[in-house]
This record gives sequence, C-alpha cells and structure tokens, in this order.
Amino acid sequence: MTSLRTNSHALLRIKTTNLYAEAVGAEGITPSEMAELAPELKRVHQALTEKTKGGLDAEFACLNLHAGMPEMLPQIEDMAAQIRRFHEVAVIGIGGSSLGAKAVHQALTAVTTSNSKPTLHFLENIDPYHLEAVLLRQRPETVAAIAISKSGGTVETAVQYLILRDWLEKNLGKDKAQQQQWLVTDPAQGWLRELARRDGIPALPVPPRVGGRYSVLTAVGLLPLAVAGIDIRGLLAGAADNAARCASDDPRQNPALEMAALFYLLDVRKNKRTSIMMPYVDPLQLFVDWYCQLWAESLGKRMEARPGHPPAGTLPVRAMGAVDQHSQLQMYLESRLDKIFTFMALDEWEYDLPIPLPEADKKFFPYLAGKHMNDVIEAEFQATRQVITDTGHPNLTLHLPALDAHTVGQMIDLYQRTTVYAGLLYGINPLDQPAVEKGKKLAIQLLSGGASSH
Ligand code: PA5
Repeated sequence: MTSLRTNSHALLRIKTTNLYAEAVGAEGITPSEMAELAPELKRVHQALTEKTKGGLDAEFACLNLHAGMPEMLPQIEDMAAQIRRFHEVAVIGIGGSSLGAKAVHQALTAVTTSNSKPTLHFLENIDPYHLEAVLLRQRPETVAAIAISKSGGTVETAVQYLILRDWLEKNLGKDKAQQQQWLVTDPAQGWLRELARRDGIPALPVPPRVGGRYSVLTAVGLLPLAVAGIDIRGLLAGAADNAARCASDDPRQNPALEMAALFYLLDVRKNKRTSIMMPYVDPLQLFVDWYCQLWAESLGKRMEARPGHPPAGTLPVRAMGAVDQHSQLQMYLESRLDKIFTFMALDEWEYDLPIPLPEADKKFFPYLAGKHMNDVIEAEFQATRQVITDTGHPNLTLHLPALDAHTVGQMIDLYQRTTVYAGLLYGINPLDQPAVEKGKKLAIQLLSGGASSH
C-alpha cells in the first residue's frame, strides 16, 4: 500500500450546482426561487445568530461546541487516559448518545495512528446475544464501561449498564468494579447523576441545552473517541472552521444556509420526499446513520404553525456507493422523481492499491490496465452522479479533502447547522422530538403491566 498524503486542514468542497434547475431541469431550483426566499433566509440566519448567543447556555448551544468544549478537553483527556488502561471498553448509549461516536470512530479508525488503543464495543440496541458474545466472555478485569445518557435513565442504556455492572461486581467485588466504570450525563439530574454522587463514579457533564443527536462534540462523543485515540482537538478545529465559513446571511457565502434553503425548497416546491445519502467512502457508512437520525428526528414534524400544510421534512435514506449501484440504482433511475441525493467522495485516499493485471487477463478488462483501485471507485462515482443528474434528480456532492478529524468535524458542524436552519425555515423546533416520547412512555407502561400490548 502506498500512503498518499498527510492530514490536511483544507475545507470541504460543497458542490450544490446539481440542485439547481440549470443542471437538472424542472426538478431543480431556479435562481428566482432562491431570490424569493432571500428575506426568509435573512430572517432564519438572524434567528440562529440570536439563539446561539450565550455560549453553552444558548438555546442553540449545539452550534457553539467548537468554542465551548475546548475548556473541557483536559478533563475529557484525563478521563480517557484512565480508561485506556483497559483492553475492552463498553460504550453504552443509544440514539444521540451513541450514533455520533460510532460514526466518527468508524470514519477515523482507519487513519488513527495510536498503536495502544483499546477495543471499543458500542452497546446500543437491546440484544442479549451481542452483550453475551462480545463482553461477558472477556476477562472482567480487562473491561471498562462508559455509560452515556443525557437524561440518565433511558431504558435500553440502563438495562445494559445494570447487567454489565452486576457482572463486574460479581466477578471483581463492588469496590474494584466501581473503578472500571465511567459516566457521561446531565450535570444535575437523572439516575446516572445519582450514581455519580452516591457511588463516586467519575462522571462528565453534558451541557444541559445540547440534545442527544447534536451532542457528538460534547463528552458524549469526545470521551469514547479520545479513548480510541482519535484526534478530538482536530474534530473541534474542523467544526470551528465550518462555523466560521457559515457566518453570512447570504447563501452564496454560507454553505449550511444554502443547503438548508435548497433542501427546503425541493421539499415544499418540488415534492421531493426522500433524501438519499450515498457516500463513495466505506468508512462513512455510519456517518449516514448519524445524519439519518439528525435529519429525521429534527425535521420530521407536524407544522403546527401552518395548519393545513403537509408535515415538514424529507425522509433520510441510507445508501452506499458502489454497492447500491447493484441494488437500488434501478429504482433511482426509473421510479418517481421524488428524491434528492447527497454523494460523498474523497479527494485523496490514504492508501491506494494498483490493480495487478497479468497479460493473460487483459483482454477481459482492458480498461483496468495501469489503473489503481481508487480510479475505479472515482469512475463509478462520476458515472452514477452523471446518470442521476441526467435523469433529473437534484443532487449535492461533498468532496472531502481527506478522511481526517478536521474534515469530519466540518461535516458534523455543517449538518447540525443545516438541520437547524432547515427547521427554522419549516417553522418547527429542530431540537425537540415530541412524538418519540409517546412510544417511550407506552413501553414503560407495558413493562409496568399497566397497558396491554394488543
Ligand atoms: O437525539 C435524541 O435526543 C435521542 O436520540 C437521545 O439521544 C436518545 O433517546 C438517548 O437519550 P439519552 O441520552 O437521554 O439516554
């Protein structure tokens, strides 16, 4: 393998041209539609600016993490150093308390240089087989547990933590077991905070105004990522650089505002109902999951302020290049024009592999002569984007300068910011998730024997 580059601090290249009518015809947005929205864009930018005033106490504190979290980094790094003494680390959390760390971990593990990192096990879903197979067969003295819950009492997290804690205590005794547990939770309330007080388990706070799906750049994501040896300072630096490039109320100068405006207009003016994210970079598979939660839980809402208006939001859908060319592409090309695509492509790969093509095999693949693996993925990406564009599907491309912490930090801030702008354009609250609570309450009633499941 040939290493092609060192880490860069270049900005993402965000190609929005294929979201406009000039590239995709009637299904795209016209300059006059964008111009008509200009006063609204000024209004939402002004609202976002007001609601981000006040650092980590602001309503939109999630957009200030690049500036507010550096102060907490020494604490996070000290705790991570203690946890790194263990070989196996259970990261227990769900939804926003898991997806961000999982996504960044997957994206950056391939390029992390640290050689003494423990193995991270993300315990997200309730799954006895997984917990048993992955952790309860390890030697207990090698296992550390980080329980992460903003509310401090989410049932999936509580159940897995209770089982793991019990297993540690039974095998090691209560005192020793407690030295292998760490918490990330609300600074004042909830079950986990109570454990921190009662049993002296070390606990880092989640800023109270930062909700789960916006919290990857708090201790929720930064602690497990630091344990894995990932450059968390680089992540925050990338987020800061993205925040700086999104300071204007002019969408031509502010990519998050432009993306929010285009996705909003494509929904309300062009009936786009589905937003498909399709990276041509394998380690970004879980980033798509993180995006799906952020987009769906933030924007999929009734528009109370606009009675009679269809609900907000486009359904986020996962895809992967080149795999889904052999699975979903047929439908993309010949079904309804109700979709928006986001492609992700890497400008420079960490490694490249030449394709060995013996003379005897050349007649089958003459086009591969002298090519590298990355030439193939690049050609497939270009070709797929071209046919999607020719079909009339609006599409966006994020060109990543490199797969490093700085780039991923930019992507996190870009999507959090775009989502908040989009929520403001729809006139909904992008930070809450009222409908999700209904199911949670009913599950608790069922467990309490207070409601029937039929
Ligand atoms: O984004 C959200 O708010 C949710 O996905 C939460 O993160 C998830 O429900 C877990 O909540 P908690 O961190 O309180 O355990």
